Amino acid sequence: MPAPLPLFAACQPGFEPLLADELRALGAAPEERKGGVAFAGDARMVMRCGQWLGTASHLLVRIAEFRCRALGELQRKAAELPWRDWLRAHVPLAVHGTTRGSRVYHTGAIEERVVEAIGAALGRTPPKAGKDDEVLANVHVRFRDDVCTVSLDATGTPLHRRGYKLDARKAPLREDLAHALLLASGWRPSTALLDPFCGSGTIAIEAAGLALGLPPGRLRAPALQSYAPFDPDTWEAVRRERRPAAATAPIVGSDRDAGAIEAARANAERAGVTAAVTFEHAAVSAQRWLAGDVTPTAGVVVTNPPFGLRVGKGADLRPLYQTLGNKLAGLGVGWRVAVLAHDLRLARKTGLALQSAWTTRHGGIAVTALVGAAKRATPGDGADATAG
Ligand SMILES: C[S@@+](CC[C@H](N)C(=O)[O-])C[C@H]1O[C@@H](n2cnc3c(N)ncnc32)[C@H](O)[C@@H]1O
Repeated sequence: MPAPLPLFAACQPGFEPLLADELRALGAAPEERKGGVAFAGDARMVMRCGQWLGTASHLLVRIAEFRCRALGELQRKAAELPWRDWLRAHVPLAVHGTTRGSRVYHTGAIEERVVEAIGAALGRTPPKAGKDDEVLANVHVRFRDDVCTVSLDATGTPLHRRGYKLDARKAPLREDLAHALLLASGWRPSTALLDPFCGSGTIAIEAAGLALGLPPGRLRAPALQSYAPFDPDTWEAVRRERRPAAATAPIVGSDRDAGAIEAARANAERAGVTAAVTFEHAAVSAQRWLAGDVTPTAGVVVTNPPFGLRVGKGADLRPLYQTLGNKLAGLGVGWRVAVLAHDLRLARKTGLALQSAWTTRHGGIAVTALVGAAKRATPGDGADATAG
């Protein structure tokens, strides 16, 4: 495998700066692009990214880029690529074509030609990947303005599927969104963390993983495992890497739904973080820290209250947001807040001075991370969700 390779970590729109920071922490030199971050690295770096990136969704290895204006030209140029260095004929193969602004416009034909070119190069066409195949080679062939880019998806399933959330309950939050909300909140493991609408526990479980120094991808199959350059010894070394566990403050998730708390505990168990997180059955109005019962002096509330779309559809959520705001404003000066909001008018009902850290899409709707100190908005705060 030639090194360094051109690599691309794809992410939710809006997460690019957070992902670039994560890559810098792994020693890469990232360049932000729309929808992801470009960087360079070897097979070991690809495996490390599969383990450690918390805000990425896919990891692509770019193997070729060329100008191309016809299907025959695509087949000829694709046949010249060093497929034997990358693919194994017995591993199921999926080729995905996309095209925009190009003379080659038929995605089905793109896929067919590239499969033929791969079959010719390997001496045998790999079996077509089925939807249940976990070990599979994913080849992406992307045409933009007559330039064809060929990439391999190093991780198969999206990186946000960490593997601990078998029981997702209602309106579960994607793990990469929970991670990005935590990073944007400014939370550090040395201060307390509370999610009073924890549902299946995603935010608290991601936080506990960070506090314990565990890689977000620890339950996942290795990146590159479906490809020829995969080397078990390198993977073993990467798999053993840990960051130092922090001196942790308490991490608490609570929810008024007893079933959600059961699910959150089971998810935490699978994630290997039960030592660092506590889940409690309580409505936000009765949550013990929010009620002033032995509340830590400093901490962050990172939470995803009902949006009013899927959970609680039709219900008037304004009183709930007002209650939340009153409780949070009473926490004291050492506390910060990060709320994932869909409806900014609803978020304004908290009366808190919160600023937008990022906006992205979640389950087909726009969502914004609102962050700030746990204090009431005053005129002139310039907040994105002030009292209204
Ligand atoms: C959008 S979901 C949170 C999803 C969660 N982040 C996850 O990863 O699964 C909102 C949660 O708020 C809870 N909830 C609604 N009203 C509540 C209240 N008054 N007090 C506490 N929890 C409440 C619901 O039971 C639901 O689990």
